[in-house]
Amino acid sequence: MPGKTIVVGVTGASGAAYARKLLELLEADERVGRVHLVISEAGQRLVAMELGIVAPELKRLPELLVPGAKKIDLLPNKDIGAAIASGSYPVDGMVVAPCTTGALASIASGMSDDLIARAADVCLKERRRLVLCVRETPLSRVHLENMLRAEAAGAVIMPAVPAFYFAPKSIDDLVTQYVCRVLDHLDLPQPQEYRWMGAAKKEKP
Ligand SMILES: Cc1cc2nc3c(=O)[nH]c(=O)nc-3n(C[C@H](O)[C@H](O)[C@H](O)COP(=O)(O)O)c2cc1C
Repeated sequence: MPGKTIVVGVTGASGAAYARKLLELLEADERVGRVHLVISEAGQRLVAMELGIVAPELKRLPELLVPGAKKIDLLPNKDIGAAIASGSYPVDGMVVAPCTTGALASIASGMSDDLIARAADVCLKERRRLVLCVRETPLSRVHLENMLRAEAAGAVIMPAVPAFYFAPKSIDDLVTQYVCRVLDHLDLPQPQEYRWMGAAKKEKP
């Protein structure tokens, strides 16, 4: 069984830690065979600022984000000729994490102006799962309308908003819980995921 093929877009919104955790969990997941990773220029800047990771060459970035990564294949955001730019290439789902309001706007309006926007557009037209982890606050009417447009076209809008009801002890707990919820939407439920069982049952399932 080759496993699922997942596309991950990383754009220049705050929350590079979400991208790293997502890649770590996808790399570790036996149900996943291949991860196509695309990082926008601004995304690379945020990875450098927030995670302190600067690759001497771009192609080394996956290994720096997830040491020992074997499934993660980095594609240049300018390469609109990559396999994931075509609907004929089988992909099981895509996540943009974090997703800027700019990337949201491109996707909501079908601009396909870089590989992230094109691969997302392909997911929408092929009726494949697309999760947008939008991060901005406050949100303008433009952002809200773009979210509505993308959602109406089939995207799952999953604002990068951490939860506190499971009594997190660290930032990593917050990031992991959120990313596990994202993976649920790719039909990749995680064994370590916290699931609320009602106020009376606070233990993990
Ligand atoms: C430190 C920093 C933090 C940013 N945070 C956000 C953010 O949370 N949300 C957002 O929509 N844009 C944010 N931006 C702005 C985007 O990076 C900028 O609009 C960029 O052009 C987006 O390009 P991309 O969508 O191709 O990654 C941030 C920029 C910087 C430098």
